[in-house]
Amino acid sequence: MCGIVGYIGKKDAKEILIKGLKKLEYRGYDSAGIAFFKNQKVEMIKSVGKISKLEDKLQKGDFSNYNIGIAHTRWATHGKVTLENAHPHQVGEITLVHNGIIENIESLKNDLEKERATFYSQTDTEIVAYLLNKYLEPDFLKTIQKVTKLLKGSYALGIIVKSEDSTLYVVKKDSPVVIGLGEDENFFASDISAIHEYTNDFMFLDEEEIAKITKDSVEVYNKNLEMISKKVQTIQLEQESLGKQGFPHYMLKEIYEQPIVLEKTLNKYMDKFSELPDLTTYQEIHIVACGSAMYVGMIGKYLFEENASLKTIVTVASEYRYEKTIYNNETLVILVSQSGETADTIAALRKAKENGQTTLAIVNVKSSTIAKEADQVLFIEAGEEVAVATTKAYTLQVAMFALLSLKLAYDKKLIMDIDSYLKDFKEIPNLLKKVIEQEDDIKTLAIELAKSKDIFFIGRKIDYAICLEGSLKLKEISYIHSEAYQAGELKHGTISLIEKDTPVIAIITDREIAPKSISNVEEVESRGAKSIMITTEKLKELVDASLVVPSVCQFLQPLLVVPILQLLAYHVAVLKNCDIDKPRNLAKSVTVE
Ligand code: F6R
Repeated sequence: MCGIVGYIGKKDAKEILIKGLKKLEYRGYDSAGIAFFKNQKVEMIKSVGKISKLEDKLQKGDFSNYNIGIAHTRWATHGKVTLENAHPHQVGEITLVHNGIIENIESLKNDLEKERATFYSQTDTEIVAYLLNKYLEPDFLKTIQKVTKLLKGSYALGIIVKSEDSTLYVVKKDSPVVIGLGEDENFFASDISAIHEYTNDFMFLDEEEIAKITKDSVEVYNKNLEMISKKVQTIQLEQESLGKQGFPHYMLKEIYEQPIVLEKTLNKYMDKFSELPDLTTYQEIHIVACGSAMYVGMIGKYLFEENASLKTIVTVASEYRYEKTIYNNETLVILVSQSGETADTIAALRKAKENGQTTLAIVNVKSSTIAKEADQVLFIEAGEEVAVATTKAYTLQVAMFALLSLKLAYDKKLIMDIDSYLKDFKEIPNLLKKVIEQEDDIKTLAIELAKSKDIFFIGRKIDYAICLEGSLKLKEISYIHSEAYQAGELKHGTISLIEKDTPVIAIITDREIAPKSISNVEEVESRGAKSIMITTEKLKELVDASLVVPSVCQFLQPLLVVPILQLLAYHVAVLKNCDIDKPRNLAKSVTVE
């Protein structure tokens, strides 16, 4: 998604802004641009494609004498990927960058067109620039106040006003923005990664707050234009990812990191097992998230229901935020998010809170909005996840559900021998390492799959939840069409898609239901499918499997299967020469709905 960064100080703005944009690259983008500001003149440079193209353009001019600037990476929403649509946008006195989506743009545009306004881009952002210019007042804070009242939707805006030579303005609603405080310099950005090289002191703007930033000061105002005092947070980022460390892609590096980060996360919570949240008071759990994080929730559902007898409903956040939700008095709403900035998940969290529900978030990024707003937060220790497709964060989130459901089962006295379970949890990182060592066998399987047009995943119960993630991983990075089905459901329609040699990957780890899944595999095989089965040591007599993982207790089995599917997707994508770390159209942090 779009990223914004701004600088005002004494240093070369170009260096800082380009570096900042590169740090924001992980969010996904298709074009980029910078506006430099000096002596009431603004110089804009934009390019379509990678930031290196913007750098090439910058090299052709002399942009080394600027100490103020705003910059942007664009992930297209309104309007195609073109130079005209790239940010910054400029109308009269105003130049701005924008992360978010203005939803009432059609009506605003119609009104402006009645006044014979003309627009050079198809973006919602240009309309905002137009309005700020139209309502320009000597006190620009009043202009911002007037215009933001007209806007519906989300925005983090970084604004230059030509007549104010030494000031930048920032305003936010439903899109994250942080201000970095330096000496004789200040910064703003979509997240701290873009500016933490220069400062450890940050101010996070809250909803509808406006910041007036000069090189020596940062004033923050609420929507009524009352100046407010903001807390400065000192944040030392963990040591940054040291590049790919010899791996050809971040995704592979992150898959291999899983045993280490799993051990770190499990140790952190197992050392204080009794302090994990007490869920015995809840009658129902809602797990709300998007994409892979929602598939983590599907695993969570089976773990809570099967092992701890607690009713659990999993909902995609983009639906949850709008649907009618029947809350029970004792409902816990669990939000799952790697980034903690996913717009729909934030909205779901706010809905739950507005309805008086208790919220618990499982998050990776500590400074994120979800981490700040949830009643309780369990942080996973994944470190920075660079590849757009999540791997290690997914695994750690599953581990958190395993721990929470174990704690609940124990608190409810459904299990007694807690020490033997905790011993299994302690052993899991090593077993995971062994699973990942099967990479060569997985590569061989990938060769069989890479030429396929469609690939199906089938499984029952928790194996189905595993299939959902396997299928998403495969399609998002290899671009092969794939679907996951409950094994018994295929014959109600989808089986008509099975042709000779259509690959069907069956996950069979649940002993009770294994014979049923095996029958479903036979059904597809007899229609020509090429089945690939993945099972556990204990079931290998029963299942003619291509890959076998160690058998572990029911809380932990998914942790040993999903990494196989991650590696499978990875190797298929390698064979297809895909852009693995940045798959087309995708963004790491989905900050618009
Ligand atoms: C898929 C993937 C996405 C994210 C989803 C939610 O590999 O990474 O489906 O899981 O966009 O993101 P977070 O977890 O940041 O809320």
